Amino acid sequence: MASVLVLNGPNLNLLGTREPGVYGVQTLKDVEALCQETAAALGHTADCRQSNHEGQLIDWIHEAGERQRSGELIGAVFNAGAYTHTSVALHDAIKGTGLKVIEVHISNVHARESFRHHSYLSPAAAGIVVGFGTDGYRLAIEGLHRLHTAAA
Ligand code: DQA
Repeated sequence: MASVLVLNGPNLNLLGTREPGVYGVQTLKDVEALCQETAAALGHTADCRQSNHEGQLIDWIHEAGERQRSGELIGAVFNAGAYTHTSVALHDAIKGTGLKVIEVHISNVHARESFRHHSYLSPAAAGIVVGFGTDGYRLAIEGLHRLHTAAA
């Protein structure tokens, strides 16, 4: 049984109370339960982590690259929050490890402020899921699974 890494970046621990009109009322715990459920239905496990710190996210990506190489991990679903729009370092971590990443955004970032329109992660991502609310995590795990089975 392989694993899917579900990574959430800054402020996503506040889901449920954070701007519910934009991000909905599901908590991070609810999202992680959805990810576990989705992964299990596909024969995987979900390894769910959240951090408000860029360096921690980079360290987890490095570790995940190794785990993907050993066949223990099929890839990652990653909502980098605001680091999406600022972090060359996260872009480089994904590129440098070859980690298969599906980028997720709960909100439709393209319908919001212009500073959210650019993503440093998108050019390094295998796929992108934007604007489906927290259901986007389920879609991203299913998409990652499909890419994995198509490549096998
Ligand atoms: C977000 C969108 C980002 O612009 C924002 O900074 C977030 C959440 C989303 O899931 O819609 O923290 O990634």
